[in-house]
Amino acid sequence: MLSEKMTEALNDQANRELYSSYLYLSMSAFFESLKFEGMASWMRVQAAEELVHAMKMYDYMVSAGGRAKMLAVEAPQFSWASPVVVFQNVWNHERVVTGLINNLANLAIQENDEVTKSFLQWYLKEQVEEEESSDNVLNSVKTAGNDHEALKEVDKALGLRRFNFPKGYDIFPYVSRQGITIGSLKK
Ligand code: FEO
Repeated sequence: MLSEKMTEALNDQANRELYSSYLYLSMSAFFESLKFEGMASWMRVQAAEELVHAMKMYDYMVSAGGRAKMLAVEAPQFSWASPVVVFQNVWNHERVVTGLINNLANLAIQENDEVTKSFLQWYLKEQVEEEESSDNVLNSVKTAGNDHEALKEVDKALGLRRFNFPKGYDIFPYVSRQGITIGSLKK
């Protein structure tokens, strides 16, 4: 049974995961407006992954006897100065999220909650991947700089990103606006 304190912290984190999804969807819409369709698609995948992060936390709370609570989701930023600023924002955001997950894991230790501590290992591992992938994308966008042709090449490469939803979490449209399948349900 989850403690009240642990439940509240997990609810806060589920809310941050939903906010992350909202933020990446806002970035996707921004790239659509710039006609960088590959970047928009990459962000759409990112938004879908964050919804999975939120739902995994929701499911854990329910199964561990906590009460999931739907908190207000903050409105994300609407516009950015350039693609590189967007991806810098992604990288910064993922580092903040890693800190939040670390805090949660520390709370689980303080609460002697071994089950939650073990549940959070998946998120800690996921954050290593998220930081690495956002760093890689940031570097390629930085290298392209203000060269529109080079940015279009990066855009094309980012549009190739695909995502396998874990079984039971295909909760988000996973086809790009151009009709390209960017996600599928893992069997
Ligand atoms: Fe759910 Fe990107 O952290």
